[in-house]
Amino acid sequence: MAKQRILSGMQPSGLLHLGNYFGALKNWVELQDDFECFYFIADWHSLTTHYEDPSKIRDYSFNVAVDWLAAGLDPEKSTLFIQSHIPEHAELFLFLSMIVPVPWLERNPTYKEKQDEIKNVDMSSLGFLGYPVLQTADIVLYKAHCVPVGVDQEPHLEISREIVRRFNGIYKKEVFIEPKAKISQTPKLNGLDGRKMSKSYNNAIFLADDEKTLEKKIKSMLTDPQRARRDDPGDPDVCNLFPLHKLYSTPEMQAEVREGCVTAGIGCGDCKKMLNASMLRGMGPHMERRREFAAKPKEVMDILFEGTEKARKVAKETMREAQEAMKFSHL
Ligand code: TRP
Ligand code: SF4
Repeated sequence: MAKQRILSGMQPSGLLHLGNYFGALKNWVELQDDFECFYFIADWHSLTTHYEDPSKIRDYSFNVAVDWLAAGLDPEKSTLFIQSHIPEHAELFLFLSMIVPVPWLERNPTYKEKQDEIKNVDMSSLGFLGYPVLQTADIVLYKAHCVPVGVDQEPHLEISREIVRRFNGIYKKEVFIEPKAKISQTPKLNGLDGRKMSKSYNNAIFLADDEKTLEKKIKSMLTDPQRARRDDPGDPDVCNLFPLHKLYSTPEMQAEVREGCVTAGIGCGDCKKMLNASMLRGMGPHMERRREFAAKPKEVMDILFEGTEKARKVAKETMREAQEAMKFSHL
């Protein structure tokens, strides 16, 4: 039986951090063997919030690709590409925008949330309102069955299914497939200061951080605030550091930390040193591979160009089918 097709995208609006890794990228890598995967860098989507200074998007896109490859996305298994290299995404977005009622977009919960969250950018643009329509074009161009995303993207997928039904209904042909969200279980991961890890809070550990930076960041991490003095016992379950031990330390070390913490047998400094050792071991291979790929920009771009070629064939064929169903073009 043919493998089901998976598609997902990431915005290149900054360097990828551990939240992005455990929330998405790690999962993408694992899906590669069981699905036919298309993964792309959603640089047009980044323009919705970075239209005033798009100059960084190019560099971020490159760095996202480097982290993808370093993390194990394999161009032999998955099709990796950049959204803006495939004009069919914009073309389908245009066709879909003709049939999408604006109220569907206005009641999209993430539309309002983002507008409230991001205060320093004017978000009243048509492009921002149409974000889920472009995202729908991304997905349905490849007739993806499943879209691995975080829970926050579920409303977008719901809109995508509504758009698919509307298109297929109006033009009386099942051109597009209704995509399902594949929600990944993500471990709770806070930033250095205890708030959600986010590049805008300046509290993230990046996949691009080197050994020195990692050590500095771990040293600066907020610990159990109740543990003011070395002799005070602490509680790993409220400590900001312990979730990282759970991800990177051996079960033995986790037990040792827990015991040492609740009995004040170890200090937070000791605990941080142990975490640093575990994370160096866990992230070391990524750091190494990242440096290798970053030093070969042409090779990285060639991988994306090859992915573009493969993806574009699929996208073009779907566009042709869509226009045929619409009895629109002469092509
Ligand atoms: N909106 C997604 C995010 O911010 C990125 C994205 C764009 C995407 N197009 C997509 C995800 C298509 C999945 C499928 O995370
Ligand atoms: Fe947190 Fe470790 Fe300090 Fe306990 S010992 S409070 S787990 S940093």
